[in-house]
Amino acid sequence: MTLAEPHNRVESAVLRGLTRDSAVVRGLARDSAVIRGLARSWSHRATVKKAEPDLDDLFDLGKRDYPNALLPFADHDTFRGLDTDQQDRLRSWAWIAFNKNVMDVEEYVVNPGFDLIAHDGLDSGIGETMALAVHQAMVDEQYHTLMHLNASAVMRRRRGWPMPNKALPDVRTVRRQHEVTSSEPDPRRRAIDTLAYMTVAEISISAYLDLISEDEAIQPVNRATVALHNRDERAHATIADDIAGVVYDTLSEPERDLYLAGLVDAMTAFAGNDFAAWHRIVELERVPGGRAMIDDAAHDGGHRNLVQDFTGIRKLCNHVGAADRIQCDWT
Ligand SMILES: [Fe+2]
Ligand SMILES: [Fe+2]
Repeated sequence: MTLAEPHNRVESAVLRGLTRDSAVVRGLARDSAVIRGLARSWSHRATVKKAEPDLDDLFDLGKRDYPNALLPFADHDTFRGLDTDQQDRLRSWAWIAFNKNVMDVEEYVVNPGFDLIAHDGLDSGIGETMALAVHQAMVDEQYHTLMHLNASAVMRRRRGWPMPNKALPDVRTVRRQHEVTSSEPDPRRRAIDTLAYMTVAEISISAYLDLISEDEAIQPVNRATVALHNRDERAHATIADDIAGVVYDTLSEPERDLYLAGLVDAMTAFAGNDFAAWHRIVELERVPGGRAMIDDAAHDGGHRNLVQDFTGIRKLCNHVGAADRIQCDWT
């Protein structure tokens, strides 16, 4: 890190008269060191740099593609009354929808947010090392999309069930983000919304991937896919957290409010079960009473959310001094 880097945030803070003893500058220096370490280690830690597992070898026809515990209707009489083949098909659809959700969030939420930062679209003083780490993360995301595409493909191939992605509606987080950004005419405010959605996706996707547990009853391909993906996401969460801190520091007060409101909106979108997808699936599978079963699950508060862990976003808000400012019920 040198003074030759014109957008270096630590140096510019010092040049603005802040001392290195200030808590802000200490935090920046620590975060920058972490990012430098992640950028340096990428070539030997990233999943895209490793050999691919043989998915066909890992596929076990006798294992479930999705845990019952994550089905919002697993205890509903309609589901319990289905035969094993019908239940298996719903679990396989759930895996297809899970993968589609990951792929679409990577493509339409995460990478546009990273791209914004890679080009310092909010004039936050993103340095070369951060830009490098962000470009590496974008490569990771493209590879994750391929991994989840392959994970769905092997299931279709081995079971002989077509279950095409395009039969499903756009995913919930992408739908909501599109609503937010398409109604915002100001490009800078739209960029802040884009950043907020990326922040939530990147810091919280580990909690989503963790939902596919290490339970031995679950398809080994699926467990391997989420485990390999999650290894990269732990690094991405650190990068996204650091980006958020750098950008937040440079936003005006109204822009900070907009960003914090964007975090809350994105958490709400990201957390929820996608009942639009479930309605479509039970329709495609012609499940008798399926629509009523999904409606019952949607109206049951206990099944509303799939992702419940936003500890990382809460820590970020504490870190940037916005804990009392964000309008969020963390419970
Ligand atoms: Fe990813
Ligand atoms: Fe990521």
